[in-house]
Amino acid sequence: MRQSSLVVVANRLPVNDNVALDGACEWRRSPGGLVSALHPLLRHTPATWVGWAGGTGPAPTLPDVDGVRMHTVPLTGDDLRDHYEGFANATLWPIYHDAVEQPEHHRRWWDAYQRVNQRFADATAEVAEPGAVVWVQDYHLQLVPGLLRAMRPDLRIGFFLHVPFPPPELFMQLPRRAELLRGMLGADLVGFQRAQAAHNFAQLVTKVLGLPATDRRIGVDDRMVRIGAFPVSIDTAEMSALASRPEVADRARRLRHDLGSPEQVILSVDRMDYTKGIEQRLKAYSELLTDGHVKVRDTVLVQVAVPSRERVGQYQILRERVEREVGRINGEFGRVGEPAIHYLTQPFDRAELAALYRVADVMAVTPLRDGMNLVAKEYVAARVDDAGALLLSEFAGAAAELPQAYLVNPHDLEGLKQGLLAALRAEPADVQERMRAMRAHLREHDIRAWARSYLSTLDQSGSLLSRLTGG
Ligand code: ADP
Ligand code: G6P
Repeated sequence: MRQSSLVVVANRLPVNDNVALDGACEWRRSPGGLVSALHPLLRHTPATWVGWAGGTGPAPTLPDVDGVRMHTVPLTGDDLRDHYEGFANATLWPIYHDAVEQPEHHRRWWDAYQRVNQRFADATAEVAEPGAVVWVQDYHLQLVPGLLRAMRPDLRIGFFLHVPFPPPELFMQLPRRAELLRGMLGADLVGFQRAQAAHNFAQLVTKVLGLPATDRRIGVDDRMVRIGAFPVSIDTAEMSALASRPEVADRARRLRHDLGSPEQVILSVDRMDYTKGIEQRLKAYSELLTDGHVKVRDTVLVQVAVPSRERVGQYQILRERVEREVGRINGEFGRVGEPAIHYLTQPFDRAELAALYRVADVMAVTPLRDGMNLVAKEYVAARVDDAGALLLSEFAGAAAELPQAYLVNPHDLEGLKQGLLAALRAEPADVQERMRAMRAHLREHDIRAWARSYLSTLDQSGSLLSRLTGG
């Protein structure tokens, strides 16, 4: 078994198998913020990525992806149902997102969560060389730091949570809250998107485990665990370079023409998830059409909603409701060749996404709760022309870093409508000033700055950092 000095552990590998039109299996970058953040960072780094390749059955052997070794962990049908769809996405995901949908609790799901976490920990212990840095990602694997420390005390272990960490009132509902906290405390550094999340975590370890904690440090046995906020980001330069390509600019012009050359295009790009506020946004747009504030001929909405977690009941219900509402709005307000909403559920390559961003006069990113939201950052990075208005939810982690966006509360329908109108009607000079400020922020706070800040806290020798970030 080849071993690495840096091992990233995430439920998902950065590639997904998709069946192509001719029936062949092709590997494609998987949509989602975690992969979007880590994939450009690790490219050409001698690291191993431990994760699930999608599907069930024996783990496929994958070739290296951009120089990174792929170490696959198999999931059975029961694991998929009880660990991924169950405990991770029907218990933890709703609790961590303000319980905007009801979390479910089943003892069988917890058994699967423990079992799958142990399998990930075993796989990681195999591929980590002595003294390696191991970086465990996200809510699917909260027990891995503790399990790994028990097996391999020589490792330097980091944990990063990409999603929000909830206030104590919500977390306390979890029947296995103590085990989950103890699992995370197996790490040397526990990172969150926001300072508030680190604060919630510190309060909880004191309340549930009786440990002394500040918002920066927690004493566990004879160790000190550091905690802190490290807002994740994107490869800003890469997205800007892609969006500057002449063929992307041409594609954006073509898209505008194909959309019927409207005066304004509103764009949303989400995974089909109830945290993203898709239904609220459709309602706001529909009411603006009803009130006559917006006319379909002048202003179209492009909603990209790539299906996600499709076997989880709440996701199926959401998709049905969204599609019914899109159909209703198009039936009521569209004309032949002129739909009110262009609704797309396909995954796109990065160049097509960049072209969509360039065509959007208003980018509507209005989740009810989101750890960060990288789509908002990608939009800003793609606007190399300093144009385009970002309508952003106050409940996305990105809002703390991008206060120049048009900020809205997506739970307030009237506020959402007013925000959308304000963004549509904003003076070009105001739009440009805001965009410039946001672009300046993201140029500095990109994915490499994130890795620098996290890894220099985790690995104080600095050797790993210089290899990853090129100095
Ligand atoms: P989440 O992680 O909850 O899905 P983010 O906004 O942080 O939300 O990240 C979503 C990532 O998935 C972004 O990098 C975005 O570009 C990508 N993505 C979203 N929709 C698509 C799509 N239809 N095709 C390809 N990539 C997509
Ligand atoms: C969010 C989570 C990631 C997850 C992604 C896509 O970004 O934080 O851990 O990979 O959504 O979801 P999926 O269930 O398809 O992996």
